[in-house]
Amino acid sequence: MKKYRIAVIPGDGVGPEVINEGVKVLNKVSELDGTFGFDFTFFPWGCEYYLENGLMMPKDGIDQLKEFDAIYLGAVGAPGVPDHISLWDLLLIIRKSFDQYINLRPVKLLEGAPCPLTGVKKEDIDMVVVRENSEGEYAGSGSWLYKGKPNEVVIQNAVFSRVGCERVIRYAYELARKEKKTLTNVSKANALNYSMVFWDEVFNEIGREYPDVRTYSLLVDAASMFFVKQPQRFQIVVTSNLFGDILTDLGAAIAGGMGLAAGANLNPERKFPSMFEPIHGSAPDIAGKSIANPLASIWSASQMLDFFGHEEWGKVIIAVIEQVLTEGQTLTPDLGGKSSTSEVGDAAVSMLSAAY
Ligand code: NAI
Ligand code: MG
Repeated sequence: MKKYRIAVIPGDGVGPEVINEGVKVLNKVSELDGTFGFDFTFFPWGCEYYLENGLMMPKDGIDQLKEFDAIYLGAVGAPGVPDHISLWDLLLIIRKSFDQYINLRPVKLLEGAPCPLTGVKKEDIDMVVVRENSEGEYAGSGSWLYKGKPNEVVIQNAVFSRVGCERVIRYAYELARKEKKTLTNVSKANALNYSMVFWDEVFNEIGREYPDVRTYSLLVDAASMFFVKQPQRFQIVVTSNLFGDILTDLGAAIAGGMGLAAGANLNPERKFPSMFEPIHGSAPDIAGKSIANPLASIWSASQMLDFFGHEEWGKVIIAVIEQVLTEGQTLTPDLGGKSSTSEVGDAAVSMLSAAY
């Protein structure tokens, strides 16, 4: 029987609460399928670890993770640890070390999910945002000069390499071709006269190899407006790291909220493990109350199954999430319900058994 080795980093706040439910679902999938299973290894890294050891993960953390088939992450961040430390020293280091240059974020309004937009039907919001995940505005390049002096200056560089742009844009074209969808490029070449002019050039160059893919280009400010006004314009969207980060939170807001938004950090060549996570943070405001919505982390488990080639199971999990939402009996408070995190996970598991 094929065993997938999964490194689980539950992290901080609601991270462990929601990850438990995803693990339950994955275990149920393997039990029902019978041809593959999971070996979960838990790593207690994150802010608590930092407060004890001065590091978010051990020095050889990346080496420890290297041999796994995938990483399943909850969330990191806690009051008392600066966010740039918790983010950089765990999440961003993993993304970079393992060259997870694709951040794949479905923005899909499921049946029964709340949508704050009026007059929008389920079919109107069904897109995948392909966010560049290795460089751009999050490259970590810059300097801090004359710290604390009156002439203090900070510089944060945005890094756009040809290889970096080509690979994410090509990935998006391939996805659009495979799924016979349109591709919208989101950039900002009017104001960012180097980086985004270059990005657009690469987008158009690569596009010549994909005459079958229908493309659109939008400036990011206009794209934000259309996410709200006419989300049906979008199918596959490709954009830079910063724009993708912001646009996908907007995407989450129009498609059910943070409790329903998942993201995959992919190394498409599979040279290194890819990482799957709900896109929300550690939600300190609700942590420890057992009311965090686990559906985003369950959705990210379905992305993991897709990546392993078990797309049929990925689809079953999405259908189960949809069933949880439409039945409406077992929902966490963010979706207007009264159920706990584990009750929602249990409901998903029993629907999974019934669906199979
Ligand atoms: P957040 O995503 O943790 O919370 C934003 C809002 O959404 C809060 O009101 C929260 O209660 C709600 N929320 C989030 N997840 C939820 C869930 N599963 N169910 C129900 N409601 C949910 O973002 P925030 O507050 O900006 O950041 C909190 C901490 O998380 C910070 O330390 C931040 O750096 C970190 N963070 C970590 C991320 C990661 O690990 N990938 C991503 C974003 C933030
Ligand atoms: Mg974000």
